[in-house]
Amino acid sequence: MKSFYIETFGCQMNVHDSEKVIGTLEERGYGQVQTPEEADLVLYNTCSIRDKAEQKVFQRLSENKKARGKVFGVLGCVAQQEGERIFDKAPHVSLVVGSASYPKLGELLVQIEAGGRRVTGLRLDSDDTFETAATRRDNPHKGYITIIEGCDKSCAYCVVPFTRGHERSRASASVLREARELAGAGYTEIQLLGQNVNSYRDASPAGWNFARLLEEVGRVDGIRRVRFTTSHPRDFGREIIDVIDRTETLCNQIHLPVQSGSTKVLAAMRRQYTRDEYMRRIEWMKASKRDIAISTDIIVGFPGETEADFEQTLSLLDEVEYDSIFSFKYSARPNTPALALEEHIPEEEKGRRLMVLQERQRAIQLRRNSALVGTWQEALVEGWNSAKGQWIGRTSQNRVLNFVTQAQAGREEMTARYVPVRVTRAGPNSLAGECAIAV
Ligand code: SAH
Ligand code: SF4
Ligand code: F3S
Repeated sequence: MKSFYIETFGCQMNVHDSEKVIGTLEERGYGQVQTPEEADLVLYNTCSIRDKAEQKVFQRLSENKKARGKVFGVLGCVAQQEGERIFDKAPHVSLVVGSASYPKLGELLVQIEAGGRRVTGLRLDSDDTFETAATRRDNPHKGYITIIEGCDKSCAYCVVPFTRGHERSRASASVLREARELAGAGYTEIQLLGQNVNSYRDASPAGWNFARLLEEVGRVDGIRRVRFTTSHPRDFGREIIDVIDRTETLCNQIHLPVQSGSTKVLAAMRRQYTRDEYMRRIEWMKASKRDIAISTDIIVGFPGETEADFEQTLSLLDEVEYDSIFSFKYSARPNTPALALEEHIPEEEKGRRLMVLQERQRAIQLRRNSALVGTWQEALVEGWNSAKGQWIGRTSQNRVLNFVTQAQAGREEMTARYVPVRVTRAGPNSLAGECAIAV
């Protein structure tokens, strides 16, 4: 049997893409192995969002340069961005495929198996049907579903529009079919994926918008939790909150990337909203009768960001009181409009701002988490931490909740169950608690 090894970098879209790639390979008779040494085919599914992410794949390729008789392939965002240049940079690579070409992966593998060199799938004008033959999910209770590919925004710093192309929405019937299949196979949690899920427009005559699709997925029998990512503030409508309010299965968690607290920087980033417009959406969330956990992405050190602009990002953290944030130093990316901007911020200063930001947020998170001590939360049991002797759970708000049980339960019996847990302690990044039910 032919064997393959795959390593995945980047966001959840990439993680899910790899599940589709693995499914396609297994259908063609390949078996997955856990190290590149054992594999006939070595694949890297790459991310290009920041320079560091892009460098990782070239590092991996140079580590493995001498492996004879193996076929190397680069997939994903770096593949799309660099295209055939990858063959020049790393001559032992024979396959370069961007995400829009995965439906054609089977045909490309036929060429590789016939000894093909420099095989590419790089067209971005795909007529995506989203119907990949097979998806091999590792997690037996949480499943990703793609609802929209690509991105039609043009944020000044971002490579995604170049690496994933224009927006293509999937037909609602197809999304629901996959949701029902997952429920039928025992999945209880679904995460809807897209670079900008809020601009979802049903490709079929039903013409649903995102809020409608979300509501219908939330009604699928057997599904207990639905999450979605990522939202763009500009397209985030109030009806999404209304739908969450009336649909219990929709998790009380929203990720709404802000990037900066300064309206001036937001304009330079071409984000298409002001701080006030962003705050209006936060107010909708806070007015919800559900206790919605809010998270965000922030970039520090965008060209032209002054100390006063940065202070505004800090004050936004205080104003919103996020439950968690992902924060990054601005990284200049190929093809992006921000390359033309002047006043680049020195690396050292970006590093300082990032540390100040993360410290401020840590205190906020500790406060937010501490407020939950004494409450009962429903946790989905994700596994067992043998070192700590604790179960690992996750709440609807997407908080990690580690807990102990009175009764001894077997790993199989507990994992994937939903159990009530009383929160007894809080740290900045997780909660700890006790599960009272006898298992
Ligand atoms: N489509 C999503 C996610 C994009 S990538 C969105 O628009 O929100 C995830 C995060 O990476 C972004 O939200 C942003 O905070 C960060 N990011 C994107 N490009 C970056 C760059 N050039 N430098 C640093 N961070 C970047
Ligand atoms: Fe995901 Fe963006 Fe990285 Fe592509 S570039 S893998 S879309 S994070
Ligand atoms: Fe698109 Fe997000 Fe970038 S909406 S342009 S991917 S920051």
